Amino acid sequence: MKVQADGDFGEWITVGGNHFYPGYIIKGKERHLMIDAGINLMGPAYIASLEKVFGDKNALDYVFATHSHFDHLGAIPYLKRKLPHLKAGAFKRVGTLMKKKSVLDLMTYLSELQRGFFQNIVGDEDVHIEAVDFELNLKEGDRFDLGGVTCEVYEVPGHTGDSLAFYIPEIRALFPGEACGIPEGDKDDDVQVEFLSSYDDYVASLEKIIKLRPKLICMGHMWVFTDDDAAEFLQRSLEATPVYRKLIESYLDAANGDIDSALQSMAKKEYDEKGTIGQPRESYIENLKAQVRQVALIAAR
Ligand SMILES: [Fe+2]
Repeated sequence: MKVQADGDFGEWITVGGNHFYPGYIIKGKERHLMIDAGINLMGPAYIASLEKVFGDKNALDYVFATHSHFDHLGAIPYLKRKLPHLKAGAFKRVGTLMKKKSVLDLMTYLSELQRGFFQNIVGDEDVHIEAVDFELNLKEGDRFDLGGVTCEVYEVPGHTGDSLAFYIPEIRALFPGEACGIPEGDKDDDVQVEFLSSYDDYVASLEKIIKLRPKLICMGHMWVFTDDDAAEFLQRSLEATPVYRKLIESYLDAANGDIDSALQSMAKKEYDEKGTIGQPRESYIENLKAQVRQVALIAAR
């Protein structure tokens, strides 16, 4: 099944916030973990969810980020201000990026574009994004025993160079961030392919994820796939990836290899005219630019 990411998924997982920006709360018997927390404007909603789930927001021990995009970790500075004991974990590069003023400014800019949508949640809370420490540099093979369930760390670059997937083997639950694309289209039955940092790495990461054979996939936004639909989604995503690459190649060919003009004509046709992509245009363009560059690099080698 494909289920909206809200509420509980079995005994161990509760969605914090809402399905647009889920912060997945893993309720171990001894320790508690949230996977992803973004955007910053959702901060008060994550705190409210922690209060609801545990009766005390301070029950959260860890927050892990799947990658360095503002809509997956933008609320971590806010959470760390509210929960000073909270330990943040991500791939090493994320901790470095989260100290850079230019990165923090871009995150703030992108989230402020959406402030109107979150006004009911954020009210007049101070949710500003600031430099934070990531105490845990996570890497392939790391394991966190939460009591009854374990969080395993897998490096899955390709969407970004710092992408991680988290996997709970006891319940075969996977948290891939955006390492295996994003459902899109009228019914979210298509896949928006997401190889922003490397096409080859992205395909290799998808193949690695498929081998885990998850039966629950808690997507970075909107959806949770279960059972056969989990496997089917991953397969569809793998198949969609070279198709998307070929689509970009066709725009690059038509533009005689000019990246910027391929980007403009593709955005016009695929985003404006089709109108099926839910993401803000500005983010879409940023992502597309990265992918057109990746495909141009492949063509050049
Ligand atoms: Fe992302």
